[in-house]
Formats: sequence, structure tokens, C-alpha cells
Amino acid sequence: MLILGIETSCDETAVAIVKDGRQILSNVVYSQIELHKKTGGVVPEVAAREHVIKIMPVLEEALANAKITLEEIDAIAVTAGPGLLSSLLIGANTSATLAMFLKKPLVPVNHVEGHIYANWLDAEAPKKPEVEPKFPIAVLTVSGGHNELLIMRGHGDYKFLGATLDDAAGEAFDKVARLLGLGYPGGPAIQKAAEKGVLGRYPLPRPFLKNWDFSFSGLKTAALYLTKKHPLKMRSKQFVADVAAEFQESVCEVLATKLANAAKKFRVVEAHLAGGVSANLHLRKWAQKLLPPGIYLRFCEKISLCTDNAAMIAATGYFKFKKNPRLYKKWMPVIADPNLELAQW
Ligand code: KG4
Ligand code: ZN
Repeated sequence: MLILGIETSCDETAVAIVKDGRQILSNVVYSQIELHKKTGGVVPEVAAREHVIKIMPVLEEALANAKITLEEIDAIAVTAGPGLLSSLLIGANTSATLAMFLKKPLVPVNHVEGHIYANWLDAEAPKKPEVEPKFPIAVLTVSGGHNELLIMRGHGDYKFLGATLDDAAGEAFDKVARLLGLGYPGGPAIQKAAEKGVLGRYPLPRPFLKNWDFSFSGLKTAALYLTKKHPLKMRSKQFVADVAAEFQESVCEVLATKLANAAKKFRVVEAHLAGGVSANLHLRKWAQKLLPPGIYLRFCEKISLCTDNAAMIAATGYFKFKKNPRLYKKWMPVIADPNLELAQW
């Protein structure tokens, strides 16, 4: 079954074609990062205008790369939320128009769930069906806007454990990178700067809450005080590297500890990292270190599958459609919802 996936929830215009929920035939991402560097973050109106310009060329490229025509598509999956409303609307309208014109089923997908399903994407999928993830799974979603800990008991079956009470991990990375003058997006910049940093020179707290929730705003404020004591002109490269390393260490230790605790408590088979921050090599190391032997740690090896893409939306669309095909048979409009919650199927 061929699914066309469309993703425009933030600052990436993305279209992909995925076979049977696991095999990527094409995955085109047009990133607006260069455009948003000037403002140090995404301006919604600017992002939406760029989506309008790029959505059709990206769609054409995805079809050409997969060597298929629109008529060969079996269903369309699109991000319905959460995200920036004006950006979501471009994908929603494009997919609804395509679905009506082609008379194909249209599957609305939650963006965070898309990140979770990125772990089902595997170039080797047709050769090795046994490598498919096995339930139950402890999932940590860590992106710019989302930070959740859940137990996935089956397709579309979630037990919610906790979430961030303030900043998501990625947001904290972006804000601290800005304080350190490292630019946007902050995650990769902090990871790079941290390579030369020394831990313990500028101690930062480890914000462990007693329940399954997270909170990174206190850590961010502690980093702010450090940078205030070291004004930009007086800062050495080593100071920036040391604070970056300490901050990264704190976030990764907290995230990995909670994931490992959830994995043990709920006796899962696998533990998954999902979302943009799962690209962080230090987080992957921490998770591997803390998980008990026997629990398989999965994340997308390819950085391009950790961050926003449409292949993950197509994969989610496939599993949703397969579980409940009658729900999506007729063409229907997509309601773009900036605050869309993760729901059981
Ligand atoms: O999932 P994503 O592409 O977009 C959202 O859904 O938010 O995540 C983007 C976030 C940004 O905050 C970015 O700084 C962070 O992921 N990120 C990283 C790394 N690569 C991307 N954070 C830490 N280390 C990285 N290597
Ligand atoms: Zn995302």
C-alpha cells in the first residue's frame, strides 16, 4: 500500500511516499532554516508563505524520486496538528484538494505520533520483516514543542505517563544556545560546542521531578545567570563549550533516567527515542547506559528521520488506515488544530 505523506506543521515543507508503513520510496524535505536564522526563530507568517511557494515543487519532486504517479497512491496522510495554525493549513488544504481530486482516502495524523512512527521506518523493511518494533514500548518524545513520556501498548494505544510542565527539551536547547550566542537551531549547535567542554566547571542543576513530568525552565534560568556573569565580550570559547556540555549533560541525564525508569516499571520490550532531540548523540549514549540489558533501544539512525519529515506522517497514516479503513474511505476535510492532542485510535 502506497501512502503519500504531507507535513507542514512548522518550518519544513515535506512530502514523502512510503510503502506499507515502513519502506521509504521518497522523502523530500525543504527546510526553511536559512530563512528563520535572521530572526533566531520561526515567524509563523513567514513560514506559511514559504510553504505556499514550496508545497507543489516538493510534491512533484517526491513523486519523481519514487518514480510513481499520483494515481498510483492508495491514500494520503497529512499532519493535522499540533503546530503553527497558518503552516498546518497549507498541508491540510493541499491534501484535502488532492484527496477530493484523486478520490483517495485522507488520514489526518498527529505530528507527535508521526515522530513516534519514524521508528517504524526502515530501508531494510521488506528484507527483514522481523525487525519491526515490538510492544509494549516506553516512548520518550523530545522535540522543539513536545516532551512526553508514554507507554505504547499497541498501534494507536497509549498510556500517558508525563510531559513537560514548561519548556520542551528542544526548546530549552534552542533558548540556551541563543544565550550562548550559538545560533539557531540550538540543539545541533550545543552538541557541537559541547564536544570541547569540560563537565563540572560551571555546575548546573539536574531537574528531577518526583513524578513522570519534566521541567526545564529552572535549568534554563540557571544557564541565564551564568551567562549574565560572563557578558558576551568577556566570554571565552571554552566558557561557551563548558556551559554547553553541562547543559546537555543535565538534559540528557534527566530524560534518559525517566525513560529507563518507565521501561523498568512497565516491563517493556523496547524503549524508543522520538523527535528532533533524539538526534542528540549524548542522549542516545545516556539512554543506552541506563536501560537494563534486554530492553532494546530504538531511535532513527538517520538524523533526517529524527527531525521533521513527511515519511513519518505517511507511516503513521498507514497504520491508522490499516487498523480502521472504513473511517477514512470517504473524502473528508482536515481540521487543522494547533493544539491537537494524542488520541487513542
Ligand atoms: O522534531 P523537530 O524537528 O521539530 C518539532 O516538532 O519541534 O525538533 C526540533 C528540535 C529543535 O529544538 C532542535 O534544536 C532539536 O530538535 N534538535 C536537537 C538536535 N538536533 C535537533 N537537540 C539536541 N541535539 C541535537 N543534535
Ligand atoms: Zn517535529
